[in-house]
Formats: sequence, structure tokens, C-alpha cells
Amino acid sequence: MKTLTLSDLETLTRTDGEDWSLSHVRRLLRLTEDIGAELTYDLHAYTIAVYLHDWGAFARYQKSGIEHALRSRQIAETDILPQMDLTPAQVTLILDAIELHDYRDPRPVTSTEALLLREADFLDFLGVIGMAREFARGPKDLVACYRRVISRREALRGRFTLPRAQTLAAVRLERLAQCLTWLEEESLGYL
Ligand SMILES: [Fe+2]
Ligand SMILES: [Fe+2]
Repeated sequence: MKTLTLSDLETLTRTDGEDWSLSHVRRLLRLTEDIGAELTYDLHAYTIAVYLHDWGAFARYQKSGIEHALRSRQIAETDILPQMDLTPAQVTLILDAIELHDYRDPRPVTSTEALLLREADFLDFLGVIGMAREFARGPKDLVACYRRVISRREALRGRFTLPRAQTLAAVRLERLAQCLTWLEEESLGYL
């Protein structure tokens, strides 16, 4: 029986997920209202993909040797989507968007939904929020977190294609640069 609803996914993300996950999902959905305002896409399928896209990174689901985006796809395909009322086309769209979301994946996206998920996820790595996420992730080593902020920023720079995402990315890159300058200044050479 098809019993799982969007509200169940929200509950599962809260109960089975990690502390960072539900707020990350909510930010991506909110960002998408902005960057996808001019686009036509399947909001229901997209929302499901956003909820599920990082489940493969949760400690309870991750598997060593399997990249988190692919692991998220596997969980969605075997455990979650069969319990939801979706067309075969929606299932394909959700699974592909999940698998292709990570910025380290060089493959082109195959749908508007996949593009929106990627670029919303990219944006959440930038700006003050992106920096806060990196330091919250740990380890308790400022230099390691600082280096990860820089490396993600460099990997994401120039990757945005949606006009509104490009505008938001420019603002976030500028804010991040300012914050890093302040961080370096206040570390007094002892970062
Ligand atoms: Fe991810
Ligand atoms: Fe994510």
C-alpha cells in the first residue's frame, strides 16, 4: 500500500536524520522558491528529492565506499519511493536528481528538478551559512574547517547557471570573503 506522504518524510528526516538535516532541507526549499521562480517543474517530486537527497550521509544509512549521493538514491529507490504514490516518470526524476546533486559529480544534470537541487545545495555551502555549516561539522580544528571552506568555495565558484542563483552566489561569495578576512584578522596569525 502507498502510505508515505510528504509530511511523513519530514518526520522521518527529523527522527532518522541528523540534527543538521531538516533545516538544510527547509533552506533548500526556500531557496528554490527564489531561484526557480521562473521555471516549470514538478514541485511534489522535487520536494521529495530535496528531503531524501542527503540520507546517504546519515550515520545510520551511510556505507563505506559508496558516495553519499548514490547511497541516498539507493535508500530512496528501495525503502522510500515504493511506499509513495508516484508515477514511474516521477520516480526516475527523483532518483536522478538525488544521484546527481553533489557538486563533486561532473556529470550534467538531466532535468530542471536536478538542476534546481544542485544549485540550491551549492548555495547552502556559500556565504555566512555555508561557513557556519563547515565549522559546525567539525572537527574541533579551526584550520581543518577553514581549509574546507576555502576548498568548497573554489569548487563552487563559477558553477551556477540559473540567473537568480548566480546573483545570490555573488552576494554569498562576497560575504564569505569578508567573513574570512575578519576571521584571519581576529586570529592574529594563530588560526
Ligand atoms: Fe549532499
Ligand atoms: Fe545537501
